[in-house]
Amino acid sequence: MPTIKFDHVGVTYDETEVLRDICLELNEHRIGIIGANGGGKSTLTRLINGLGEPTSGTVTVDGLDVEENGKELRKKIGFVFSDAENQIVMPQVRDDIAFSLRRFKLSKEERNRRVDAALERFGLTDLAEQSPHTLSGGQKQMLALAAVLVIDPTLILADEPTTLLDLRNRDRIRREFASLEQQLIVVTHDLDFLNDFDRVICIDDHQVAADGPPVEVLGFYRNLMAARPL
Ligand SMILES: Nc1ncnc2c1ncn2[C@@H]1O[C@H](COP(=O)(O)OP(=O)(O)OP(=O)(O)O)[C@@H](O)[C@H]1O
Ligand SMILES: [Mg+2]
Repeated sequence: MPTIKFDHVGVTYDETEVLRDICLELNEHRIGIIGANGGGKSTLTRLINGLGEPTSGTVTVDGLDVEENGKELRKKIGFVFSDAENQIVMPQVRDDIAFSLRRFKLSKEERNRRVDAALERFGLTDLAEQSPHTLSGGQKQMLALAAVLVIDPTLILADEPTTLLDLRNRDRIRREFASLEQQLIVVTHDLDFLNDFDRVICIDDHQVAADGPPVEVLGFYRNLMAARPL
């Protein structure tokens, strides 16, 4: 598994502190990130593939500074956002998946083979010629995942990947994620998703508030939220 290291990382937007002195070393297979709205989870996740920059400290993946090696690292890191709409780049479902492979030197046949396999895997074959914008929210989410997994990343970051999904597609995503050999970091409010994860981190008050096995950290978070005044 890759090792992601946060070394005294802080993020401040216009004097507002969003993350404070985060020190973490992540090398488990499946890692969940939970916490209250606005706590900094998405900000933290975006630092890992260079979509955001730390105000202080450094983030490295396998020893490579993310800020300096963003382009190279993004070839190996897949990112699924909660708002799949923002990930659509091409006018056709098939091309949208193929677009992910643009940085890779593949023959046309190999590229088509990979795209077909990704369409099939996520139940999108019948929608291949359609415009992504005409898909339902859940279908867009499946497309976003297909477009990420087609590059066969070594690390997958997912920020609320099941938020828009019906039960069937939520199960499909959970099954997909459970079968992935790659390292996976999932930000979610769907706590049951994380029951069999290797490690869960709770971000609260811009810091790591709890870090450990799911049963411990999910319990901590439930108590924390229950004790908070409305
Ligand atoms: N580009 C930005 N400029 C200014 N403030 C920002 C920016 N991005 C995030 N923030 C602020 O940082 C804080 C943390 O946001 P973040 O999206 O990381 O939270 P989160 O834990 O993912 O929340 P949620 O559970 O609601 O998704 C929020 O108060 C947000 O308003
Ligand atoms: Mg978020």
